[in-house]
Amino acid sequence: MIVHRPRRNRKSAAIRNLVQETYLSVNDLIFPLFLIEGKNQSSSIASMPGISRLSSDMLLKEVEHCMQLGVQSFALFPNINESLKDKYATESYNEQGIYLKTIREIKKYFPECCLMTDVAMDPYSSDGHDGIVEDGVIVNDATLVVLGRMSLAQAHAGADIVGPSDMMDGRVKYIREELDKEGFTDVSIMAYTAKYASAFYGPFRDALDSTPKFGDKKTYQMNPANQKEALLEAYLDFNESADFLMVKPALLYLDVIKSLHDHFNVPIAAYNVSGEYAMIKAAAQNGWIDNDKAMYESLISIKRAGAKVILSYFAKEYALKLKANAI
Ligand code: PBG
Repeated sequence: MIVHRPRRNRKSAAIRNLVQETYLSVNDLIFPLFLIEGKNQSSSIASMPGISRLSSDMLLKEVEHCMQLGVQSFALFPNINESLKDKYATESYNEQGIYLKTIREIKKYFPECCLMTDVAMDPYSSDGHDGIVEDGVIVNDATLVVLGRMSLAQAHAGADIVGPSDMMDGRVKYIREELDKEGFTDVSIMAYTAKYASAFYGPFRDALDSTPKFGDKKTYQMNPANQKEALLEAYLDFNESADFLMVKPALLYLDVIKSLHDHFNVPIAAYNVSGEYAMIKAAAQNGWIDNDKAMYESLISIKRAGAKVILSYFAKEYALKLKANAI
C-alpha cells in the first residue's frame, strides 16, 4: 500500500499555489543597462536579442518605463569609445565622461530608484583587462588605487550601490575606506564575490567591446571547478564589510549560491549573465524551447537556490509579462 502520496498536494492549481515555496517579485530584480555615446541612439546587440545599447536620453526613457513596471533597481555599464581607453582607465573618473554624467542624470530624474554602478577597469582599459597590466601581468595593489578613485567618483555622481566586478584582492576594504573618508558611509558595496572565469560573458563583451586584448582572466576570476574557494572569497568580502555577496554566473553556479546563502547573513545576489540569457533567446527563436517558461524557470531556480537579488537581462521582460498576466 502507498502511504505517502506527494501528488495529493499537486491536484489543483489552488493547492499547488498553497504549497509553493518560492516566489519571484520584480522587487528581487536588477536590470543591467548598456550606455553608449550620442543622442537618440539605440544599437541592438546581435547576441542579446531584445537588449540594446542606449544613449543617455534614451536610457532615461528606458528607466522611466521600467519604473512604471515596478523594476526599481538598475546596474549601469558603459561602452567607451576606443579612443578614450588607456592603460590606467583614466576615463573612468572623468566627471564629464558619459558614465558619470548619466549617473547624475538618472539620480536627478529618478531619485527614488536604486542605481548600482560598475567598478572595474575593463570598459576603459586599452588592454581590456580589469586591472593594470605590467609586463603582461595584472597587478593587484596598484589597481586598487584606480578602483578607489572610480568608486568615489561614482558615489559623488549619486550611486546607491557600487559593484566591484574586478576580482582584485582587498578591494572591498579599500573602497569602503575611501568612501567613508569622504563621508559616503551610506553607499553600499555589492561585491562580485565569486566571479568565475566563464565562457558565458561573451555577449556582454560584444556589447561593451571589452574583450581582453591578450590572454584571459584566469589569474583573477575563479576556476569553475572550485566551490570551497568561493567560501574563502565570501569570508573575506564579508569581513571587509560587503553589503551583498554576489555569485556570477548564476545558473551554472546554483550550488555556490546555496553555499553562500547557508553561511552568510547578508543578502546573496546572483548575476544571470549575458550568455545564460543568449542561450534561452537563441533556443526560443528556433522554436526549441518556450521563452516565457524558460525565463521563469531559470529565474525561480536562482531564487530557490538562495539568491535574494537577481541581476538579469530578463528583468524588464519579466515585469512586462507579469503585469500582462502572461506568466
Ligand atoms: C567585467 C564584467 C563582466 C561582466 C560584468 N562585468 C565580464 C567580464 O569579466 O568580461 C559580465 C556580465 C554578463 O556577461 O552579463 N568587469
